Amino acid sequence: MNVSRVFYVTTPIYYPNDLPHIGHAYTTVLADVLARWHRLKGSDVFFLTGTDEHGLKLQRAAEKKGVKPKEFVDRMVPEFKRYWKLLEISYNRFIRTTDIDHEEVVKKALEELHSKGLIYRGTYRGWYCSSCEKFYSEGEYEEKEGKKICPIHVKELEWVEEETYFLKLSAYQDEVLKLVRDTDIIHPRGYAREIASKLEREGLRDLSIARPKDRVYWGVELPFDNRYVVYVWIDALLNYLTGIGYGGNRKFREYWSVVHHVIGKDILWFHTAIWFAVLLMLDVPPPRRVLVHAFIINRGLKMGKSVGNVVMIDDMLDRYYTADSVRYLLMRLLNLEKDVEFDVELLDNIYNGELADTYGNLVRRVGVLSIKKLGGVVKRGELDEELRGKSEEVVEEVVKLMDNYKISESLVKTFDLLRTTNAYLNKTKPWESENPEPLLYNAIEATRIATNLLNPVMPSVTRKVAEALGFEIIEVDKLKYGEVKEFRVREAPILFKKVKSDIS
Ligand code: MSP
Repeated sequence: MNVSRVFYVTTPIYYPNDLPHIGHAYTTVLADVLARWHRLKGSDVFFLTGTDEHGLKLQRAAEKKGVKPKEFVDRMVPEFKRYWKLLEISYNRFIRTTDIDHEEVVKKALEELHSKGLIYRGTYRGWYCSSCEKFYSEGEYEEKEGKKICPIHVKELEWVEEETYFLKLSAYQDEVLKLVRDTDIIHPRGYAREIASKLEREGLRDLSIARPKDRVYWGVELPFDNRYVVYVWIDALLNYLTGIGYGGNRKFREYWSVVHHVIGKDILWFHTAIWFAVLLMLDVPPPRRVLVHAFIINRGLKMGKSVGNVVMIDDMLDRYYTADSVRYLLMRLLNLEKDVEFDVELLDNIYNGELADTYGNLVRRVGVLSIKKLGGVVKRGELDEELRGKSEEVVEEVVKLMDNYKISESLVKTFDLLRTTNAYLNKTKPWESENPEPLLYNAIEATRIATNLLNPVMPSVTRKVAEALGFEIIEVDKLKYGEVKEFRVREAPILFKKVKSDIS
């Protein structure tokens, strides 16, 4: 296996205390698009997603429902799987932190850290947010009326004072800073600067990595002291190793060397400062890439259950009908650096203008005309130089953009080609031409190129177009304008039903 032809992508593992919403879908669809893009490039892809099932947050959610934590998460996991199926998420493994192989990895890793002398006993005193499952140091929280408030969940922090075990992260501060500052692991670079300056300002403090069982019983037992469970974030991060069979084998090393962690910016510190240090301790190389995106916000605040401004996946599917449209809209909004407001009016306009009027309309037109004028058989004739030039330029640009995680820009580029093709039809008018075949051939050929490029974002609709117009979705490196000798057009499907802006 050629190493450059392997790709490993992960999503955060989500807390199954509640149903996933559009914010979670944003990350998951992004990871799925990268997985599909690399498959389209002919790579051997492993795509990991799953659920983060231990800890205080889950323990409390189960208690609230009056059931055992395991029973509670067992009920929630099928819901996550159902949503990911609805959205056509093509994961290779759905990992649960309650999976036996994962619990074994956690124990093995903690044994190793312990035997290396990197864990010591101590007392932790400080503030904790159970929604973040995070210890808050001074300066990180907000203060309101003398109360300490979690800036993400806008709720009061809890005081924690307990005997625990600490992991000696501080010993790795300089090495971690180098990885953050002097490599290209963290992308976009603004996030690397943010973490570097936090490290320079506050340093990397030792981390409490256990919780006493009388407070938090729902977790993996500490292998060297059964009165404790492992702190949920350490448990969770290790899932990325379990997912591909942590060990010294070749498969693990190959996948690990290219791993891309896709995350939201809320969990950046954990995935960089803490994770890089833990990996250094375990003698595992750092991840190849931590790909960070900003938030979807609603009325100015990060979408979240505790804030009460979530848009559910069902709401979006109801409004835009199909997984493809929802995926397209999320990826069209995608912004790694800046938060984007969930604006239905804007989404309606993009949906109607781009999906229905541009892509849908083009496919319908070439389909209808080919059937009516040529009985569906469209043979190659003279190639149109403008469409060929445009197609080649777009393929080249899209490859560059996608390889740089610029998914929204790549969609805009591909839609340029679709618009040019619609304009070509308007200009050449195959419906009144005596020789419509070359005109239709060129229009279908450009449609094929665009459809092929859109496949990772809209897997179903692009397959439908390929079937209707009679071509195959192929590896992107082999995509060349003029390659197809003949199209056998079977139907002229209507791809997207318009939405009316007056209903919401
Ligand atoms: N369980 C941890 C992750 C452990 S990974 C080793 C966790 N889970 S979570 O359920 O809270 O999911 C957080 C992730 O969901 C964010 O990092 C982000 O990827 C995604 N999002 C949740 N709400 C979001 C928005 N409003 N906008 C964008 N992404 C959001 O943290």
